[in-house]
Amino acid sequence: MAETDQVAASADRLAAMNLSDSVQNHAFSDRVLILSIVGRPDGGAGLAGQRVRAGGWVKTGREQGKGTFAFLELNDGSCPANLQVIVDAGVAVLSKLVATGTCVVVDGILKVPPEGTKQRIELRVESVVHIGEVDPAKYPIPKTKLTLEFLRDHLHLRSRTNTIAAIARIRNALAFATHSFFQEHHFLYVHTPIITTSDCEGAGEMFQVTTLISEAEKLEKDLIKNPPPSESDIEAARQLVTERGVAVKQLKDAKASKADISASVVELNKVKESLSKLEERSKLKPGIPQKDGKIDYTQDFFARQAFLTVSGQLQVETYACAVSNVYTFGPTFRAEQSHTSRHLAEFWMVEPEIAFADLQDDMNCAEAYVKYMCNWLLEKCLDDMEFMAKNYDKGCIDRLRMVALTPFVRISYTEAVELLEEAVKGGKKFENAVEWGIDLASEHERYLTEVKFQKPVIVYNYPKGIKAFYMRLNDDLKTVAAMDVLVPKVGELIGGSQREERYEVIRERIMEMGLPLEPYEWYLDLRRYGTVKHCGFGLGFERMILFATGIDNIRDVIPFPRYPGRADL
Ligand code: 4AD
Ligand code: MG
Repeated sequence: MAETDQVAASADRLAAMNLSDSVQNHAFSDRVLILSIVGRPDGGAGLAGQRVRAGGWVKTGREQGKGTFAFLELNDGSCPANLQVIVDAGVAVLSKLVATGTCVVVDGILKVPPEGTKQRIELRVESVVHIGEVDPAKYPIPKTKLTLEFLRDHLHLRSRTNTIAAIARIRNALAFATHSFFQEHHFLYVHTPIITTSDCEGAGEMFQVTTLISEAEKLEKDLIKNPPPSESDIEAARQLVTERGVAVKQLKDAKASKADISASVVELNKVKESLSKLEERSKLKPGIPQKDGKIDYTQDFFARQAFLTVSGQLQVETYACAVSNVYTFGPTFRAEQSHTSRHLAEFWMVEPEIAFADLQDDMNCAEAYVKYMCNWLLEKCLDDMEFMAKNYDKGCIDRLRMVALTPFVRISYTEAVELLEEAVKGGKKFENAVEWGIDLASEHERYLTEVKFQKPVIVYNYPKGIKAFYMRLNDDLKTVAAMDVLVPKVGELIGGSQREERYEVIRERIMEMGLPLEPYEWYLDLRRYGTVKHCGFGLGFERMILFATGIDNIRDVIPFPRYPGRADL
């Protein structure tokens, strides 16, 4: 949005808001959100004179006037701005309030501060309702400026920092924008499974889900506590069964009473049962169950091998091929040993799938969706974006504007390789050699989007050898209808394709790639019965946040990052 538009939008909001309105408590709490005070177009000035209760955590606090009063900058996370709070020494023990991280709830009166201060409103405290004290000598994150790397060792407290809170609000806004975009376009939100038995990308990077290991550990402990029966225990039990059998026979031969015979049969059954229990226990072997020299997955929880999903695509296609426009948005998992600033072992992916649509439609949808998110942040999250621009990436707001307004460049893979080869001829050095057939490396992608075009670039029609089996084979028989969206700061943001809808062709592709047919029979059914052209893509949600905020490391834009060697909390 241009600056004049912003002023107009904020004037509209101002007009829509009756600034003399009294401020309301939050619907589910007995205090006013700081956002509803300082987030108003008038900065809260119109609320002067009103009595409110506010709560939050102290960002900075200082005693002043020789200890006669204290200033607190209070933040409750509802917006980046703090509420300035003034407490007189007569109201509370000031030293208990001023440490960074202290939680306070206060009642007071909103006042316009003296001329020359930057705040438009401040809260004069009449009483302190709650103090959650902090010992500054022990609090792990007492300073306001700490490195993001340091904060990764304190995941449970890092949301108290301005940066992580701003990222959380931006992440929330992008999730809302995602649902809003797809709902506006009549896509159905489908929940695909997290536990799966299909490997979508065929890249063998799946985390296995199994109870075999914990079961084996339990059994091992149990066998130590209650050792399995020895051969002689079993022999003795067998002997008992024989003896009791003989006893029954003798009673029958002697034509004993029915009651005596039944009592003796009951005894026989008891010893038979305890023999079979002993025999069963004697078969228990420590370790993971094996059959024919391999792990016996029929004894696993799902009676087969199961994994955490790498993508909801294959499952969401079943809904696309029934209700036409769908999307899934959930966590995905990849067990790759990538220690880069762009990879996580657990990340969130947005995956739309569109029936009756081809690669062009796919690219149009991806471009519209990314632009929609950029506009959303400019309209609804500008204060947090300004924080990011001030502290992390000067250009992040301009980048959002540029992407929202500029048509994405679209080039084929072959053209992309030609451009990279030209760059190499011109003296550009890449670590990975460039030739037709290679998978573009991050350095190539970033050259195209950051140096060559300086805007988002969609590369389409990749060699079939480097892409997944489900992508539609082009008429040249060498390339597939794939597309990747590359953006400055990040490189690959989106990977998508038109899907192969022709039964014979996809069957051939699965076999050509050396994949077994059997696990994909259900997927082939979508082509056997009522097949339709369709396409879709996956957007890496954390990469979108990196792109928007200019934060350098993906580990800082997900609340609880998982990567090789780390899964805290
Ligand atoms: O390109 P990918 O592997 O595509 C798929 O999984 C398709 N099944 C999607 C589809 O067509 N429905 O992954 C999609 C996106 C990438 O472009 C990237 O942004 C992100 O997911 N991504 C990762 N993000 C963080 N950490 C990782 N390890 C990632 N791997 C992929
Ligand atoms: Mg990809």
